[in-house]
Amino acid sequence: MKKIVAFSGSNNPDSINEKLVKSLINRYSEYDIRFIDLKKFDAPIYSQEIQSSGIPKQIQDLYQIFEESEGFIIASPEHNGLPSAFLKNIIDWLSVITQRFFNNKPVLLLSTSPGATGAKTHLGILAKLVPLWGGILKGTYSLSSFNENFDTSTNSILKEEERKLIDNRFKSFIGEGTELKSNKVVVQNYFKAFQSGDLEGVLNLFHPSCYIVSVKEEERPTEQLHGIYRTREEAKQFLENIVNLFETKDFTVDTLYEAEGNVVVSKGAFSHLVKSSGKLFNSNWVQWCLVEDGMIKEYRFYEDSAALLEASNIELVEQ
Ligand SMILES: Cc1cc2nc3c(=O)[nH]c(=O)nc-3n(C[C@H](O)[C@H](O)[C@H](O)COP(=O)(O)O)c2cc1C
Repeated sequence: MKKIVAFSGSNNPDSINEKLVKSLINRYSEYDIRFIDLKKFDAPIYSQEIQSSGIPKQIQDLYQIFEESEGFIIASPEHNGLPSAFLKNIIDWLSVITQRFFNNKPVLLLSTSPGATGAKTHLGILAKLVPLWGGILKGTYSLSSFNENFDTSTNSILKEEERKLIDNRFKSFIGEGTELKSNKVVVQNYFKAFQSGDLEGVLNLFHPSCYIVSVKEEERPTEQLHGIYRTREEAKQFLENIVNLFETKDFTVDTLYEAEGNVVVSKGAFSHLVKSSGKLFNSNWVQWCLVEDGMIKEYRFYEDSAALLEASNIELVEQ
């Protein structure tokens, strides 16, 4: 992950949640983690009346930072079992720009408080809401009894076992040392692997429990290309069917965009030589992918199946 944005949801100038998130930034200084002071993006309490004269400039600026980032680390204070009104207000403003302001990017939630719960109660609530805002929740961590468990002279968590816990959460946020990729990049990588003939690479981008629809959403005999494939095991059959049927002469992607709900849509054109007939099968195509955990969970590919029949020397019977 390249650019990570980190902040605390507190407007307390001496915020303990800010201290916690900054300690993580210092601990992982090799990563590009940008701390932003949310107080600088403070806005009036949300009201439709204010919104009708425009979204406040500071919220638009914050949204722009969100757009440019690839992941979020948030340390959130708890007020009466809920997130602070300060953070909630900023969330409300962002949500009127777009409900899914985390835009399919990973989110790590932290909290601390002087009490024994470490503000865990409200973190569970936030964790449930992160997907509603388009975030991919990667983990939560709460540090209890801040004053006893945090050394403000070194700005670090005192207990080794607590440091291990937060480290584990950070590693799963970052993707165990591998770069967490945006959904769009996952599909771009799929095409790159496909175009370079790296079938192993293509296969690894399918989720172990993927669902593939090749043109027709119906069951198929093993060697038939069009139909349903389930699991990565059958995805292998899908690729084998393509290789057995065609020699790809050209494959282009002209459109690729990320839609709501972890969906990536793309379209393009290809030219396959049909091995059995020696004829060219030229077609436009449209692909719809649902991405989960950096892999393609659901895959739908549509092409001109009538042109395939023609190129395969199979007569089309007019109804
Ligand atoms: C109005 C109010 C309500 C609070 N409610 C809780 C609470 O529900 N749970 C908790 O653990 N701490 C609660 N606290 C204590 C906060 O954890 C403490 O003020 C902490 O410093 C807030 O984090 P911050 O310094 O990052 O803003 C509350 C504090 C205030 C002022």
